Parts: sequence; C-alpha cells; structure tokens
Amino acid sequence: MKKVRIGVMGAFRGESMIKYSAEADNAEIVAICDKMEGRAKGICDKYKDKNIASYESFDEFIKHDMDAVVLANYANEHAPFAIKCMRAGKHVFSEVLPVQTMKEAVELIEAVEETGMIYAYGENYCYMPAPYEMRRLYRNGTLGEFEYGEGEYIHNCEPIWDKITYGERDHWRNNMYANFYCTHSIGPLIHITGLRPVKVTGYESPFIERKVRNGAKSGLFGIEMIELENGGIVKSIHGDLYKDSIWYTVYGSKGRAESAREDAENGDISTIYVNIDEESGAYDTKKLECYKPETVSRAGGYGHGGSDFYSMYHFTEKILGNPEADIIGVYEALDMFLPGMFAYRSVLKGGIPVEIPNLRDKAEREKWRNDTTCTDKSVAGDMLIPVYSKGTPDIPDEVYEKVRNKWLGK
Ligand SMILES: NC(=O)c1ccc[n+]([C@@H]2O[C@H](COP(=O)([O-])OP(=O)(O)OC[C@H]3O[C@@H](n4cnc5c(N)ncnc54)[C@H](O)[C@@H]3O)[C@@H](O)[C@H]2O)c1
Repeated sequence: MKKVRIGVMGAFRGESMIKYSAEADNAEIVAICDKMEGRAKGICDKYKDKNIASYESFDEFIKHDMDAVVLANYANEHAPFAIKCMRAGKHVFSEVLPVQTMKEAVELIEAVEETGMIYAYGENYCYMPAPYEMRRLYRNGTLGEFEYGEGEYIHNCEPIWDKITYGERDHWRNNMYANFYCTHSIGPLIHITGLRPVKVTGYESPFIERKVRNGAKSGLFGIEMIELENGGIVKSIHGDLYKDSIWYTVYGSKGRAESAREDAENGDISTIYVNIDEESGAYDTKKLECYKPETVSRAGGYGHGGSDFYSMYHFTEKILGNPEADIIGVYEALDMFLPGMFAYRSVLKGGIPVEIPNLRDKAEREKWRNDTTCTDKSVAGDMLIPVYSKGTPDIPDEVYEKVRNKWLGK
C-alpha cells in the first residue's frame, strides 16, 4: 500500500500523530521538528528503526522530502505555518485552533483555494464514538431536522499546568481569552449537522483565584449561544470548571441522541443513548437504546476515545484519494472556531448578539482582510484586545517562577 510521508511539527501533543504515522498502514513518519532542545531528537530515538530526521528549525524541516505536515505547534500560531507548508507543496493537518485573527482566516482560505493542497483541521472530538454516531443518525434522517444541541468540553488543567505552559508568562494557554479554545465543544455539533453558524452571543465567567495561581489571565470558562443557519440553537461551554466533562446532546424533530455523562460511569463519549421516534408526532413509538458504537474497537490504544486515530486516518486516506475520507476542511474549521472568536467580541460589547461572517463569500472577506484583533501582542498591532474583558490581569513574576520550578522538578 502507498504510504503518505509525514513530518510532524511540535513534538509534545504531536507524539500522538507521530505514533499514528509510525504504526498505520497508510502513513510513514519521516521528520519531526521541535524548537525545544532535544525534544524532537528524543522521540526519534524512541523509534530507532524508523530512520526519522529531527529538526529544531522549521525553515530546515520544511525542506525535507515529505508529502504532508502535521502542525502540533502553539495553538495560536497554526495559520502562518499552514500557509507556508501549503505554498511549499505540502498537505496540512492542523491541530486546534485554525487561526487567531480574521486576517489569518482570509489568508488561510485563500492559500487552500490557490494551492489546491489538502487542509484538514484536527478537531478529533468530532470522531469520538458518540458524536460520530450522532452524525450518522442525523445524516441518514433518523434524528429529523436539527433543533437544539449542546457541547461541553470541561477540562480542569490545573494539575498539569506546569507541564503544558512551562511557567511562560506569554504561553498561549496563559494568554487565551475564555471563548478561544472552543472547537472541542462546538466542532462536533457542526460536523454532525453540517449547518453554518450565523450568530452568537458570548458569556465569560469571572477571573478567579484558581486562574491567578496558574498564571492564566482569562475568565475561568466561556459559553457560546450560537444560532445555526436553519434557526437551530447550539449551547457550547468550555474551560476549567473544577470537574471534567466531555458531553454532547442533539435534539432533532424526531427525538434525541446524547452521550453518557462522565459521572454515570458508563463509558462517557464511547456510549450513546438514542431516544428517537419513527416519525415526528408518533409519540407511541418511543424506545430508548443505549450502545457503544463500533468505532471504539477499531482505534484501541489511541487517545480521546480513539478519535486521535480517526482524525489522522481520514487525513491520510484523503491524500491517497479515498472518496470515503471524511476530513474537516478549511470552511468547516472556521465554522467551528469563528463562533468562539465572535463570542468574545460579543462579551467585549456587553453581551449583545453578533453576526458570524461567512468567509465562503469572497466579497465578505474584504471587510476582514486587515483585521488583526487578538490577544497576541506580536500579531495584533493596534488591534490588541484584553485577555479578560475587564482588563488583562497583572500577574506577579513569582507565580510564573513557581510554575516553572514545578515543571523543572525543583
Ligand atoms: N486535539 C486535542 O485533543 C489536543 C490536545 C492537546 C493539545 N492540542 C493542541 O496541540 C497543540 C500543541 O499543544 P501542546 O499541548 O503540545 O503544547 P504546546 O503548545 O506548549 O507545545 C507545542 C510544541 O511545539 C513546539 N513549537 C512551537 N513553536 C515552534 C516553532 N516555531 N518551531 C518548532 N517547534 C515549535 C514547542 O516547543 C512545543 O514542544 C496546540 O495547538 C493544542 O491546542 C490538541
């Protein structure tokens, strides 16, 4: 079988895609790049039999002979690298998030359109067993018309904050606004329905002591109330509430499908509850089913309920020309992210609903081509916005020193 030659940039989260590329029938890992001294080399050493090249500089890495690049670098820096990769003739798999500004969103779309390279957004949660089964039930008409859905991604990262931010004041995780990391909760609802989000109202929870002691500068969690193009509503919540939860529910005109709550201890996103009538209005046919969709067993050993396997599987199959390959392309990626970006604009405007731009429309792009609004000082220019709506908190240096020392084991 022909194998796609893959290079991975970012060798922390990237280890999952390296594992896929090293083990899968349809892929081969040929290069790893990470600017942190020894990180890429350390992983190459683990796969001694694979002859993988290691790099610390992206400019050297991109010259390597390979078909595709996986971007698992900083969450706010994917778009510029994705554009460089596609312009250098490489297909791209981008980790979350796709862009940090509207300017980048326009440039990313245009790079995909102009180069014809494959761009796949790595929103792995879409491929988790329960939401992927919801997609099947929605797309084959079983659920009826979409009316309402909820997505939750609650991950209290405090216990691992040192390992994922290294005590860096400007690490993207310390510098992201409450609505930024939104695609694990929104993405599956978009991939299930295929409907475009048109309007959003954002909520930001207060900045509290738990955030201060980690060095993160935003509200604790964000909420997006999103109107889809058919009038259906999605509620998305994500952030660092104390107890974790990954959960999805979809209400259609014939019933409901939802995943198990974590506290039910019934397989959470690997289990689906389906409560659907044969026809809308046939209230006498109610039957509740609870099962584990088949996909679980095919991806054993891969993280996030096996979804880490499927996101890479579909990307590599797409490159190989498999018509069944189900990737998340650039427009859909932005349908998953723009609700979070514009939810924060809603928060900054006092909580009013705001329209979500449709960048499929070339004329609409012109309004946004120079919009660098974001919380990243190196990109925003005079469009810098605060990380917390009431003003970016000033966190003392000692906090970062403490987190860094914990990471270094001091
Ligand atoms: N989909 C998921 O389930 C999931 C889970 C965890 C992380 N992520 C995503 O993975 C990405 C990476 O997150 P992480 O947890 O590994 O932490 P991280 O963002 O701190 O790590 C990024 C890695 O990329 C390297 N890097 C950054 N810029 C580089 C450059 N210019 N050249 C070379 N190397 C560079 C860093 O040294 C680091 O090792 C983020 O986008 C994050 O959102 C996704």
